[in-house]
Amino acid sequence: MSVSNTEMTAAAATETDRNVLRLDRICLQFADKHVLKGVDLEVKQGEVVVLIGASGSGKTSLLRCINLLNTPTSGSIIIDDEVIFHVEANNHGGSLIAPSEVNRIRSKTGMVFQQFNLFPHMTALANVMEGPVTVKREPKDKVRSAALRLLDLMGLAQHVDKFPRQLSGGQQQRVAIARAMAMQPKVMLFDEPTSALDPELVGEVMKAMVELAKSGMTMVIVTHELGFAFEIADRVVFLDQGLIAEQGAPNNVLLHPIHPRLKSFVGRFHESADLLRPFLEAREAQRG
Ligand SMILES: Nc1ncnc2c1ncn2[C@@H]1O[C@H](COP(=O)(O)OP(=O)(O)OP(=O)(O)O)[C@@H](O)[C@H]1O
Ligand SMILES: [Mg+2]
Repeated sequence: MSVSNTEMTAAAATETDRNVLRLDRICLQFADKHVLKGVDLEVKQGEVVVLIGASGSGKTSLLRCINLLNTPTSGSIIIDDEVIFHVEANNHGGSLIAPSEVNRIRSKTGMVFQQFNLFPHMTALANVMEGPVTVKREPKDKVRSAALRLLDLMGLAQHVDKFPRQLSGGQQQRVAIARAMAMQPKVMLFDEPTSALDPELVGEVMKAMVELAKSGMTMVIVTHELGFAFEIADRVVFLDQGLIAEQGAPNNVLLHPIHPRLKSFVGRFHESADLLRPFLEAREAQRG
């Protein structure tokens, strides 16, 4: 979430302006199907970008490119000043990643999916500690205190010793977020993190994600919950048929859309937002 100008020192401004993630002309093709057609996206330190778009527009495919679960056909991906992927459009002179590097590079991103695949035989705390202890071989004491802090940030201080089966879906998803955060990623990627939850549990996961945003985490979130997008996003990006068709501040993209397909996509939100407009705009102005 953005810091207001008055709070921002010159040094912090430089840090905040730094790109954590940059995608250049990302193309992705499966057989003869062009799923992504040249996506450019820059995400700054601490920025929260929400990706919206119709089903099949390429949102999940784009997130999967960022953590190399999909291999783009061409384009570049730069995370934290390291070029992690680069292939020219004509496929000449490009560089693919060495297989031995994939895990190190993948740990620059933390991914949270619809389905929270926690280890069923481990407590919440053990689930969060697992990656840093076994993959990164960090000392257990240090990992434990970091894991407890993350679980606390996720509102789970009372539940650290419970097993997944003793936790609600919303609590399990918050453990999954803490688990991804424990690897100290540069950017967190969320693919519809609340869509598999019972409606009454959606709010607690959204609230935990707002806390994460406030803590300064850089986040890219795919969601169909437009109210949540309005709440959490610094920038909303509308993906349409494999390309970014429109992007900007939530107030512009969600309340004053220009692209015809975005207009119809946000139509329902737009109607309900009409009632809330004075309130929403006042809050947007306050955020600066
Ligand atoms: N492994 C694959 N092989 C072939 N086609 C694929 C593959 N993965 C995705 N696609 C196609 O790419 C397009 C974009 O899919 P993607 O899952 O990225 O959309 P999405 O925007 O996340 O949609 P939703 O909102 O339904 O999750 C779809 O037409 C899908 O069928
Ligand atoms: Mg998807």
